[in-house]
Amino acid sequence: MKKKLLFVCLGNICRSPSAEAVMNGFLKVNMLNDEFECDSAGTGGWHVGERADSRMRTHAARRDYDLTSIARQFNPKSDFDEFDLIIGMDAQNVSDLQDIARNSEDLHKIKSMTDYCTRYKHYNSVPDPYYGGADGFELVLDILEDACDGLLKQISK
Ligand code: 4NP
Repeated sequence: MKKKLLFVCLGNICRSPSAEAVMNGFLKVNMLNDEFECDSAGTGGWHVGERADSRMRTHAARRDYDLTSIARQFNPKSDFDEFDLIIGMDAQNVSDLQDIARNSEDLHKIKSMTDYCTRYKHYNSVPDPYYGGADGFELVLDILEDACDGLLKQISK
């Protein structure tokens, strides 16, 4: 059975679809895509049904990541059961997920993305790039590449 990873942010149009694409890229390069499956979701529902933010897609495409996901809202009734790890992008995402967890098993699945960082250790969240400029989108990708590297090492142990 494939292990399933779910990346979660607020809108599911910037950070978590990028995390999903970066992780899929790393899994493919390491020939681990038969063992793991990735998805993403938002704690909020404002952008449900939309493609990822076009600015995020442009920045990601420059690094060869293809953001194909369509935004959806996290569903506590099915996602806690379906996924093995549920990884929030910032402290608010983690706390929102913890608030809707049904039991201790759910709580144990909730992680924070930046805990997997080795180079960007000083960041304790992946900063929301939505209202900022180009630098914010680049920073998201820098942090995500670092975190996905650490995550890959941890799950492939
Ligand atoms: P994300 O970014 O959580 O990384 O997808 C955001 C996208 C949209 C909004 C906030 C953050 N929004 O307020 O609409």
